[in-house]
Amino acid sequence: MHYRSLSHHLCAVTLTLGLGLGGHAVAADTDPLKIGLILPMTGQQSSTGRQIDAAVKLYMAQNHPTINGRKVEVIVKDDAGTPDTTRRLAQELVVNDKVVALAGFGITPSAMATAPIATQSKTPMVVMAAATSAITEASPFVIRTSFTLPQVSVSIAEWAAKNNIKKVVTLVSDYGPGIDAEKYFANRMVLNGGQVIDKLRTPLRAPDFAPVLQKVRDAAPEALFVFLPSGQGALFMKQFAERGLDKAGIRLIATGDVTDDDQLNDMGDVALGVVTSHHYSANHKSAANQKFVEAFKKANNGMRPNFMSVGGYDGIRVIVEGLKASKGQGGEALLAGMKGQLFESPRGPVLIDGQTRDIVQDVYIRKVERVGGELHNVEFDVQKAVKDPGKTK
Ligand code: PHB
Repeated sequence: MHYRSLSHHLCAVTLTLGLGLGGHAVAADTDPLKIGLILPMTGQQSSTGRQIDAAVKLYMAQNHPTINGRKVEVIVKDDAGTPDTTRRLAQELVVNDKVVALAGFGITPSAMATAPIATQSKTPMVVMAAATSAITEASPFVIRTSFTLPQVSVSIAEWAAKNNIKKVVTLVSDYGPGIDAEKYFANRMVLNGGQVIDKLRTPLRAPDFAPVLQKVRDAAPEALFVFLPSGQGALFMKQFAERGLDKAGIRLIATGDVTDDDQLNDMGDVALGVVTSHHYSANHKSAANQKFVEAFKKANNGMRPNFMSVGGYDGIRVIVEGLKASKGQGGEALLAGMKGQLFESPRGPVLIDGQTRDIVQDVYIRKVERVGGELHNVEFDVQKAVKDPGKTK
């Protein structure tokens, strides 16, 4: 008996040492609490990576979060917007770095590819960018601080109906968020007595808008509704103008992804008057936003924050506050600490719905105007506390 328990004991010691040398030991209580931030820092979606990385760095520099004597540390990884890479990096961050949370996710396919890892490892996963409704249903460990396409697409359809726009064509990027935008916009148009005479889609990768814009011209609707992921708006606007659609009397309406604050100021006069719906404008009038925009610009050579940066800024806040509530515990305790958070974001008041784990927020109707020599999305109407209409439960 005695001998056996001793050998057991020795075994346990050897095991612990072995794991320690291999770097797999359970983190000691003084080790930093690590957050794995996976972003498209390169590739087509790199503006999203740049914006969120800058916002998270700003939050960390402003707050220097420490929980029970443990520093919070962010590890940034570049997935180049490739879902297989996102998944592999998430796995490494969980297994090797023992992160308490995963965060980032520039596009829907990256978030979807990672959701099973969050579930299996019980690691909360904070979606700061991707916006297909179904992402929060892919794992009970997903929390979202960005927005959803159904959430913003219904409001612009309502605006169109009120402004006597009856005959429209839709143009969306052909994947999750685009399909959500098309469906929720079109259904609300029809519900309000309007007509969707054509539904056009462009590929996510390297889109060429010329062929679809020709179709729009031929269909001659009163308005064209557009969703494109952040980063594609400037190219679209250029081709819209080159094809003379702005002069042909076809009104452009869109989700705010198209008049993205990251690119808007360089779009030129073609953008003037474009009406969009979205949850954030750098021009949003509040003391909290003014403070955020000033600090963000100061830390980033004058770069204007867009909606992605706000998803990142709020996302890191939700994680840090969640860690305070869980006293540095990860897993279910951290998840519980993140659910139900209610706070004032630079975008306005937000709630992390405890049931759906999705964000509830105000949706604004905005118009592109010149303000102090710069192009801005100027908010002129608001729908308060909008839940994601795409939720089935
Ligand atoms: C997404 O892939 O979910 C996505 C990306 C960029 C956007 C919106 C949605 O602007």
